[in-house]
Amino acid sequence: MTDDTREVVVTERVQHAHDVVGLTFADPSGAALPGWQAGAHIDLLLPEGRARQYSLCGSDGAWSIAVLNAPDGRGGSAWIHDNIREGDVIQVRGPRNKFPLAAAQRYVFIAGGIGITPIIAMVRELERRENQNWRLTYGGRSRESMAFLREIEGRGERVSIAPQDETGLIDVPAALGQPRIGTAVYCCGPEPLLRAVDRACRSWPPGTLHVERFTPVEADGTGDEPFEVVAGRSGVTVTVPAGVSVLDALADQGIHIATSCGEGVCGTCETKVLAGEVDHRDSLLTEEERTANTVMMVCRSRARGARLVLDV
Ligand code: FES
Repeated sequence: MTDDTREVVVTERVQHAHDVVGLTFADPSGAALPGWQAGAHIDLLLPEGRARQYSLCGSDGAWSIAVLNAPDGRGGSAWIHDNIREGDVIQVRGPRNKFPLAAAQRYVFIAGGIGITPIIAMVRELERRENQNWRLTYGGRSRESMAFLREIEGRGERVSIAPQDETGLIDVPAALGQPRIGTAVYCCGPEPLLRAVDRACRSWPPGTLHVERFTPVEADGTGDEPFEVVAGRSGVTVTVPAGVSVLDALADQGIHIATSCGEGVCGTCETKVLAGEVDHRDSLLTEEERTANTVMMVCRSRARGARLVLDV
């Protein structure tokens, strides 16, 4: 548990698109909620201990999210669609930003479906700054399924709309253009789109691509071995058996690290690595961050060798 858990009241529920509802929150006391930057998300705390991450996408700092009722999802979004109404008080954590807008000479955004939510906040931010070089390709199953479509189409020629039932899947090479130094590529959407963009960006300068996932990448735990974790601040050594996370093994010894999603997607449990090589299994870190080996998500990632030393 982190100490940024708070109660918020739902002040508005709107239908953004077919199967996409928008929720806006306020502090029940009327106090201002903390500010956030484009790319930030909050965790909604749902029954049975589930936490689900949603990008903040309100205008002018409003705490608004958009939730797709994903038929093949893990049940969190369906529960929200069925149960959360205006006036309800719910628990949230955050905001936290693991997808910040980096400084760049130009920006290429690629959004698929509900992946538009962090991207629209970035586009609004760049428009606010004026004279920024950006373009966006936004795909979805059909126009009816695409949230914020009218606002995005109103941005003019910088935007390319790709409803799948009209034009097919996003043409990723066309959306990216030629590799250029100084370009930041931001992508959020379904896993096949993220993988296609990742593949296409391998010939681009390192650090170009920024992606955000809200569903965990599958990790194959077969063949996992136990290893030791040393809590660097106290010197306590803990054995992490196969099938147990570093987070849980440390908690069993009274060393508690803040956690939320437990699935390697939210970044709450990010912990500094002092020694040892990490087997990264999260869905957040970039290739450069994995190679740097300076932090790990202890809810999911493990050791590549026999021992890790962590700054806890
Ligand atoms: Fe979310 Fe570990 S708790 S990444």
